[in-house]
Amino acid sequence: MFCLTSLALATSDHLINRGAGTDTDDLSIAAGCHVIYSWPGASIPQQLYDLAQEGKVGGVIIYGENVNDDLPTQIRKLQAAYAKSPGYNSKPLLITTDQEGGEVVRLPGGPKRSEATIGASAHPAKEANQAGKVAAAACNAYNVNGNLAPVLDVYRHPGDFDDQFNRSYSMKPDIASDCGAAFVKAQQANGVVATGKHFPGLGAAKKNQNTDLEPVTLHVPFHKLRAIDEVPFRGAIGAGIKMIMPSWAIYPALDPKYPSGLSTKWIQDELRGRLGFQGVTISDAIEAGALEDFGSNSTRAVLASRAGMDIILAAALDVSQGLKIHDALVTAMKSGNLSRTSFEESTKRILELRTGL
Ligand SMILES: *[C@@H]1O[C@H](CO)[C@@H](O)[C@H](O)[C@H]1NC(C)=O
Ligand SMILES: *[C@@H]1O[C@H](CO)[C@@H](O)[C@H](O)[C@H]1NC(C)=O
Ligand SMILES: *[C@@H]1O[C@H](CO)[C@@H](O)[C@H](O)[C@H]1NC(C)=O
Repeated sequence: MFCLTSLALATSDHLINRGAGTDTDDLSIAAGCHVIYSWPGASIPQQLYDLAQEGKVGGVIIYGENVNDDLPTQIRKLQAAYAKSPGYNSKPLLITTDQEGGEVVRLPGGPKRSEATIGASAHPAKEANQAGKVAAAACNAYNVNGNLAPVLDVYRHPGDFDDQFNRSYSMKPDIASDCGAAFVKAQQANGVVATGKHFPGLGAAKKNQNTDLEPVTLHVPFHKLRAIDEVPFRGAIGAGIKMIMPSWAIYPALDPKYPSGLSTKWIQDELRGRLGFQGVTISDAIEAGALEDFGSNSTRAVLASRAGMDIILAAALDVSQGLKIHDALVTAMKSGNLSRTSFEESTKRILELRTGL
């Protein structure tokens, strides 16, 4: 039996209400917490409302084509459907988007200023604080409770992958760190979960090294990854950041085989072990081209979970993608391919994150 019962007893806080359900029901509800869904077009499809009501959804990611005046109402209805699910215990779905600032915003309202503009300004931390407030206001207006920002990558050369869209605060780790921390504090103080990305940093990626499209390997010496790229992540962790998104690049300095987001060495040893991060890890888009050598969406999701990824982002604008991943996680737990103990700890982290959202 899946041990959410013992968890609930241990914490005296019932994470999931268990009825007379079967082991499979319990696994299904737990797996649901780990999957973020997406959908095409202007309206949430009925299938997604139904899956939410069955408890198979952990949250959603919103893209530009989903955004219109009706979206806040649709999100309220989705939350209401989830509230009827078996196991629901006042932990709302995690509703996310990329409201970074500058070019990369999905919702109306800004921040208008890009990370690069903020980092180059006379008072970067003050500007970043303001941007965090604006991002939170934009999210709150649409019932979005988690922002996949700030970008904490430290770029190396003008025009690099992040810099071409002004998405990196600075080439200077300390400035990027101060800005990131200020953004995180302001946004989270206004009720919206912040997400530092893309751990341990995509700053060294050149213009065309795009993990959405193809495998990317960053040959950065370990001492530089720690002395440059990890600095803003340390800053954000110090500021209490609640989520971190690992990158899909491979960093041979620590793990020559697996991209950071599939790597136990990066997630468990470096991020949690060495940097002391206790929050939730969320993957980048599971369908990313960077993972072409790692099988189907489902196989990737199991690999990511096994490496310590709490939440899997099914971002292909296709509800069935999230459902397949949900089902694969259940199957993997039944077959012993995923450790139930680790998965349970991961579920607990996710539900704690969602408490009070
Ligand atoms: C980046 O910022 C520069 C300087 O503010 C601006 O000229 C350029 O248009 C921006 N590029 C993008 C893609 O936003
Ligand atoms: C992942 O899912 C998306 C959406 O269903 C699909 O288009 C894509 O081909 C899948 N990728 C892999 C590698 O299975
Ligand atoms: C375990 O998971 C891996 C990765 O997804 C997969 O290749 C393998 O076939 C799975 N084994 C079982 C027994 O399900």
